[in-house]
Amino acid sequence: MIARRSFIKWVLASAFFIFTLKFLKVTKSETKNGITINLDSLSNNSVYLIKNRQIAAIKMDNNINVLSIKCTHLGCTLNVAGDIFKCPCHGSEFRLDGKVIKGPASKDLKEIDFKVENNKIILYL
Ligand code: FES
Repeated sequence: MIARRSFIKWVLASAFFIFTLKFLKVTKSETKNGITINLDSLSNNSVYLIKNRQIAAIKMDNNINVLSIKCTHLGCTLNVAGDIFKCPCHGSEFRLDGKVIKGPASKDLKEIDFKVENNKIILYL
C-alpha cells in the first residue's frame, strides 16, 4: 500500500516537473530570442535605436523596418546622421532602408524579422 502511494506521488511529481520544464523552455526561448519595442516609442518618420544590440527600428510613412546597425565593413555600430546611418569608424554611409551609399562597406545592412502584436514590435534575432 505504501509503495502504491509512493508510486502515485512519484508520477504526480514527474508530471509536474515535466510541465514546469516545458513552461520554462517556452519562456526562456521567448526572452532569449525576442526583443520588444513599444510601438508608442516609435513615432512616424523616426528611428528608434537599441545601440547595445546594434538594432534600429525605422518608421517612415507609417511603414516599419528593422535593421542591424552593425556596419557591414568591420562591425562598428552606426549612428544616425540626419536621414542616413553613418559609421564612425571608416565613414561608410547607409540609407535608412539599409542600402549602402558610401564605402568602404559594400554590403547593405541586414534586415531583422519582426512582427507587430499587442502594440509591440517583437524582433526575431
Ligand atoms: S567599420 Fe564601418 S566603415 Fe569600417
